[in-house]
Amino acid sequence: MIPMRFLSWARSRFRMKLKTLALLLCIVTCTTLFFSYALREPSGYKYALRLVASTEAPCACRRCLTEAEDDPWFAERFNRSVHPLMARDNSALSDETLKWWQSLQLEKRPANFSEVVEELFQLIPDDVLYADAGPNRCRTCSVVGNSGNLKGSQYGRLIDASHFIIRMNQAPTTGFEEDVGARTTHHFMYPESARDLDNATSLVLVPFKTLDLQWIISALTTGTIKNTYIPVKSRIKANKDKVLIYNPAFFKYIDESWLRGGHGRYPSTGFLGLLFALHICDQVNVFGFGADQHGDWHHYWEKNLEAGAFRDTGVHDGDFEYNVTRLLADKHKIRMFEGR
Ligand SMILES: *[C@@H]1O[C@H](CO)[C@@H](O)[C@H](O)[C@H]1NC(C)=O
Ligand SMILES: *[C@@H]1O[C@H](CO)[C@@H](O)[C@H](O)[C@H]1NC(C)=O
Ligand SMILES: *[C@@H]1O[C@H](CO)[C@@H](O)[C@H](O)[C@H]1NC(C)=O
Ligand SMILES: *[C@@H]1O[C@H](CO)[C@@H](O)[C@H](O)[C@H]1NC(C)=O
Repeated sequence: MIPMRFLSWARSRFRMKLKTLALLLCIVTCTTLFFSYALREPSGYKYALRLVASTEAPCACRRCLTEAEDDPWFAERFNRSVHPLMARDNSALSDETLKWWQSLQLEKRPANFSEVVEELFQLIPDDVLYADAGPNRCRTCSVVGNSGNLKGSQYGRLIDASHFIIRMNQAPTTGFEEDVGARTTHHFMYPESARDLDNATSLVLVPFKTLDLQWIISALTTGTIKNTYIPVKSRIKANKDKVLIYNPAFFKYIDESWLRGGHGRYPSTGFLGLLFALHICDQVNVFGFGADQHGDWHHYWEKNLEAGAFRDTGVHDGDFEYNVTRLLADKHKIRMFEGR
């Protein structure tokens, strides 16, 4: 018979070996995971190192948009200190900016800008939003353009997975959910392209003239303004506590820094939405930009190609904007999804 003492000794030896083995296995697995993760994506490597070294990162995502603004092309254009939205504190425009902005739609005898802004901020919130970039924030955004290349793309789920989902102008989701998603957090529009929204969505007004600011006041209250240069919706369904105003100074910054002035009369709503995202998000996915697979430019909700062009409407330069967007993607600042 084997003595009990020996048995329990052997058992504890065996357990110790098992523990050592488990520990070894764990180390091997972790190291393998670390390196396979690190090698899969160049930025993943940086992130993995950062996890170990716990150095400060510009954001909490795996990949940050503004990570080391080391690309000279990007650094030359991107200016973090221009805020895309208007608040009471930053609403004053320089004479030069005001003049430039008022020339966009050749507004004759505009109302007093600062008085209109003051009235506006008595109706809508005037907080500075989204200026909270930092090592603890990972905000992902989907910018959804209106291109026909979304048709049959099945991007809906991917689009809806972001924190912010930005759409523009007439963009419908009902009936197109599989390809374009169902959620909208920010909907960009101007009076001539306005549509009703649900209570949870922020209406982002893109003003091209002082009258547009007066229009949003009117459309949310009395409904007295019924025309700009064409008839417009006199009332709009939207949550006034979530209305945001695109900053005319940001407009000018885009025109000068990103479009280098004079490429088309002013940026398209899609491009304005993209730059908005570039400034307030840590990761940006872009959908529905550019032509469809046949090279046609039309909206995803249009059956035929009749209305055709949103590329050459005369006021935008779609090619140039598209090239800039393409470059942003090539430099891994955004990810572009162009249909399949
Ligand atoms: C960035 O924008 C701020 C605010 O408009 C301006 O004062 C500053 O000169 C700009 N910086 C560059 C490098 O253009
Ligand atoms: C606009 O209104 C403000 C405040 O009432 C006033 O100080 C300013 O001079 C006005 N500007 C113009 C161009 O009339
Ligand atoms: C919409 O949201 C606001 C708060 O932002 C709330 O006060 C209001 O009751 C909501 N309206 C509806 C119809 O849900
Ligand atoms: C856009 O890029 C293409 C290809 O690089 C080039 O041929 C074209 O001239 C560019 N368009 C504009 C408007 O810069």
